[in-house]
Amino acid sequence: MEFIRDYADWFYLIGAVLFILTLRGLSGPKTAITGNRYGMLAMGIAVVTTFFVAENPVVWMILAAMAAGAVVGIARARTVPMTQMPETVALMHSLVGLAAVLIAIAAIIHNNKLIAIGPDLLAANGVNFHQMSSVHLFELFVGCFVGAITFTASVFAYGKLAAKKWAKTIAGAWVKPVQALIFIAMLICGFTFFTTGSMPAFWAMTALALIFGWVWIAPVGGGDMPVVVSLLNSFSGWAAAGIGFTLENNMLIVAGSLVGSSGAILSYIMCKAMNRSIINVLFGGAMGGVAVANADAGEKVQRNYRSGSADDAGFLMSNADSVVIVPGYGMAQGRAQNAVKELANLLKEQGVTVRFAIHPVAGRMPGHMNVLLAEADVPYEDILEMDEINSDFPATDVVLVIGANDVVNPAAKDDPSSPIYGMPILEAHKARITMVIKRSMATGYAGLDNDLFYNDKTMMVFGDAKKVVEDMTKAINGTGH
Ligand code: TAP
Repeated sequence: MEFIRDYADWFYLIGAVLFILTLRGLSGPKTAITGNRYGMLAMGIAVVTTFFVAENPVVWMILAAMAAGAVVGIARARTVPMTQMPETVALMHSLVGLAAVLIAIAAIIHNNKLIAIGPDLLAANGVNFHQMSSVHLFELFVGCFVGAITFTASVFAYGKLAAKKWAKTIAGAWVKPVQALIFIAMLICGFTFFTTGSMPAFWAMTALALIFGWVWIAPVGGGDMPVVVSLLNSFSGWAAAGIGFTLENNMLIVAGSLVGSSGAILSYIMCKAMNRSIINVLFGGAMGGVAVANADAGEKVQRNYRSGSADDAGFLMSNADSVVIVPGYGMAQGRAQNAVKELANLLKEQGVTVRFAIHPVAGRMPGHMNVLLAEADVPYEDILEMDEINSDFPATDVVLVIGANDVVNPAAKDDPSSPIYGMPILEAHKARITMVIKRSMATGYAGLDNDLFYNDKTMMVFGDAKKVVEDMTKAINGTGH
C-alpha cells in the first residue's frame, strides 16, 4: 500500500504513456485490439493508484459505486447492438459531464465546510488546510460549466439518436438570442463566483450551464449529430482535465487532455468530410431539420425508377470486370456484412475485381463500416477511403450500394439549394451501372430524396440487405460461371 502511494506519480506516468499508446493503436484496424488492451491496463493502473492515493477514502462507497458501474457497463456492452453504439457513446459522455459537475460541487462544499470550521481549529487538530486559490476556483468554474453543458447536451444527443420523443429539434428566430442570453448570464454568474466565491452565483452558473447545453444542441439537425457527439467527447475530456487540476490528479489531467484533443481532431476530420465548419454545424441551424422540412413541404411528385431482382443483379455482377461495393447504414441495420463478404469472395473467385468504398460518415458512427467489414474478415487492402476510390468510379462496371443513401446523393455536388450541398460524396452515379439495395424508396438520415435512385443507369433491388445479398450469391452460384 505504502509502495503504491510513494510511487503514485510513477504509476500515473506509466498510465499516461499507456493511454498515448492506446490512441496510437486505435489509429489503425490492425493495431486496434492491442490499443484497446493498453487502454484497459492504463485505466486499471489509474483506478488502483487513485484508490491508494486518496486521503481517508470511504472504501465501501467507492467499491459499491465501482461494482454498480461494472455491472451496468458489462450488461450494456454485452447487449448493445452495433447500430445503437452512437447513442450509447453519447450517454457515456453525459456521465463524464455529470461526474465533473458533482466533483466540482463536492469540492466547493467541502472547501466551504473547512472554511466554516476555521483554519486555526483545523490546524490544531492536525488537518492541513489551504484555502482555494483563485486559480483553483477558476479551474472549478471551467470544469463545472463545461461538465454541465456536456451533460445536458449529451443527454439530448442520446435522445435524438435514439429517436426519443422528448429530444425535439427546436427552431425559430428566438433560438439564437436566447442561446446568447443564457450564455452571457452563465458567464456573469461564473465571474461573480470566481471573484467573490458567492455560492448562489455558483448554483446559478451551474443551472444556466445545464440549460445552455440543451438549447445549444437542440437546434442542431440529425445529419450533424455525429460531429456533435464527437465534439461532446472532446468536451467531456476537457471537463475531466479541469477537474483533474482541482483534485491535483495528474492522471486525470493527462487522460482528460488526451480525450479532449483527440475528440477535437476527430470533430475536425468529420467536419472536413462533410465540407462544413464546426461553427456552421453548431450555430448554423438545423441541417437535418431543414432537410426534413423541405422533404415534407415539397409536393410528392411521382418519379420513375427502374427495379430489378437479385437474380438480375447477380447476373450483371458476375459478368462485370470490376465491382465496387458501397456499404451504408442499411448494411449495419440488416446485419448483412457476412453475407456481403461471401458475395465478394464468390465474385472474386470468378475473376471480378471487388473493392469496398467507405464514406467517412457512412452509418451512424465514425468507422462504423470499417468495424463491420473487419468483423466479417474483409481484407483491409480491399477497403478504400472516399478520396482513394472516387476517381475510379467512371471506369467501374458495377457499383453495388448496400443500404447507403445520403453518402451517395449527387445533390451534394449538383444542387446548391440542397441542405447537404458541399458535402463530399462517393460518386457512385458515375459508374456504368449502379445497383441499390434498400427496402423502399424512403429517404435516408438527412431526410432527402436521392436523384441517384431515378438515374437511367440505376437499378433498385428492393428488400432487406442480408436477404437480397444472399439471393444474389445464390443467383451467381446458380449461373455456374
Ligand atoms: P442513410 O442515408 O441513413 O441511408 C440508409 C438507407 O439504408 C436508408 O435509406 C434505408 O432505406 C436503408 N436501409 C435501412 N435498413 C435497411 C435494411 N435492413 N436493408 C436494406 N436497406 C436498409 O445512410 P448512409 O448513406 O450510410 O449515410 C449516413 C447518414 O447518417 C448521413 O446522413 C450521416 O451524416 C448520418 N450520420 C452519420 C453518423 C456517422 S459518424 N457515421 C452518425 C449519425 C448520423 P429503406 O428504409 O428504404 O430500407
